Amino acid sequence: MKLKNDLLLRALMREPVERTPVWIMRQAGRYLPEYLKTRSEAGSFMNLCQTPELACEVTLQPLRRFRLDAAIVFSDILTIPDVMGLKLYFVSGEGPKFENPIRSAGDIENLPSPDVSESLGYVMDAVSLVRRELNGEVPLIGFSGSPWTLATYMIEGGSSKTFSKAKTLIYQEPGLAHSLLGKLADTVTDYLNAQIESGAQAVQIFDTWGGALSSQAYQEFSLRYMARIVSGLTREHEGRPVPVILFSKGCNTQLEALADSGCDALGLDWTISLSEARNRIGERVALQGNLDPAVLLADPEVIRKHVSLTLDSFGDGNGHVFNLGHGITPDVNPDHLSALINAVGELSPAFHQAP
Ligand code: CP3
Repeated sequence: MKLKNDLLLRALMREPVERTPVWIMRQAGRYLPEYLKTRSEAGSFMNLCQTPELACEVTLQPLRRFRLDAAIVFSDILTIPDVMGLKLYFVSGEGPKFENPIRSAGDIENLPSPDVSESLGYVMDAVSLVRRELNGEVPLIGFSGSPWTLATYMIEGGSSKTFSKAKTLIYQEPGLAHSLLGKLADTVTDYLNAQIESGAQAVQIFDTWGGALSSQAYQEFSLRYMARIVSGLTREHEGRPVPVILFSKGCNTQLEALADSGCDALGLDWTISLSEARNRIGERVALQGNLDPAVLLADPEVIRKHVSLTLDSFGDGNGHVFNLGHGITPDVNPDHLSALINAVGELSPAFHQAP
C-alpha cells in the first residue's frame, strides 16, 4: 500500500520535502493520561509491552492527539536482555532491573543467542498490528538499543551513573567485553531485520550511553558494533529504502565517525547546534533533532521561538527531521507538545522549496 505521508522517509534519505517532518522520542509515554490509563489496565509496563493489542493502542495514542509524521512501535530496548534470560522487571521510581544480571565470565559465555522472531514475537505482532491500523497514514519506526547501551544495563543490573562495572569489564577483560558485544550485535541485527520484515519502515538504534566512553573506547566498544549492525540490516523492503538512524547521546565529538558508519541519519542531542553538525558532516547523512526536551516545560510562545531557532540552525534544504534531543519527560503538558508540532508545521515550509 502506498504511504499517504512519506515525509519522514524522504527526509531521512535527504530527498526534497515540502515541510520538515516531526516525531518525538518517547512520544507514547507517561505525559499522556491515556497512556497511564492503558498501562494501569495492562497491570504492568511489561504486560503492556507483551500484549500486542495494548502495545498497538499506546503506539497510536499520540497520533490521535498530534499531527505527527511517524509512529514508533511501543516496546523497550531491554526486551533483548530479558529474552536472553536476564529477566527484566521494573521497580516504580527506580527504573529497570534484572533478576539475573551478568556477574561472571561464565554468564557471558553461557548467554544464549535467542531466536528473536520467536521469543520477541510479541514485538513483531505489535509491528504488524500497528501497520494494519495505520492504514498507510504515516510510516512506522522500529528500534533497538545499541550493544554498548544494552551491555551497560546487563552488567550493572539496572541504571547506573558511573558505569563502573561495565567499564571495569571493557578495560580489565576486553576480550570478554567483545564477546558480549558481538553476541548482542548479532541479536540486534536479527531483531531489527525481523521488525523490518514485519513492517517497520525505518529503524533507530538508541546508543543512549555512548557518551560515557572515552573517544578511543567509544570507537572500539560502541561504534564498531553499531557499524556491524548497520552493514547487516535489510536496507530495502516493500520497494523502498529502509532508513537507519543512529541516536548516540553525548557523542558529538564523534559525528564524523558516526556519519561514516553506513547509517542514513544521525539523531543529535541538544548540546550541539544543527548548523555546526551540518557544517561538519556536510551532505553525508540526514540529521534528526535536537530541541532540548526541557523547552517543553516553558510556555507555548517560548516553545515556538525555540522551534524557530532550531529550524534556522539547520537552515534551508533537505535532510532534517525535527525531534527532541532526547525523550519527552513525564512532566510535560501535552498541549505544549501540540504547540511544538504546530510550530514545526507552520514555520518549516519556508525552509523548503514548494514541489
Ligand atoms: O519512543 C517511544 O514512544 C517508544 C517507546 C520506548 C520506551 N522505551 C518505552 C518506555 C522507547 C524507544 C524506549 C527506549 C529505551 N528504554 C531507552 C533508550 C531511549 C532513551 O531514552 O535514551 C532506554 C535507555 C530504555 C530503558 C528504560 N526503559 C528505562 C531507563 C526506563 C525507566 C526510566 C524512565 O525513563 O522512566 C524504561 C521504562 C519505559 N520505557 C517507560 C516507557 C514509556 C516508562 C515506564 C512506565 O510506563 O512506567
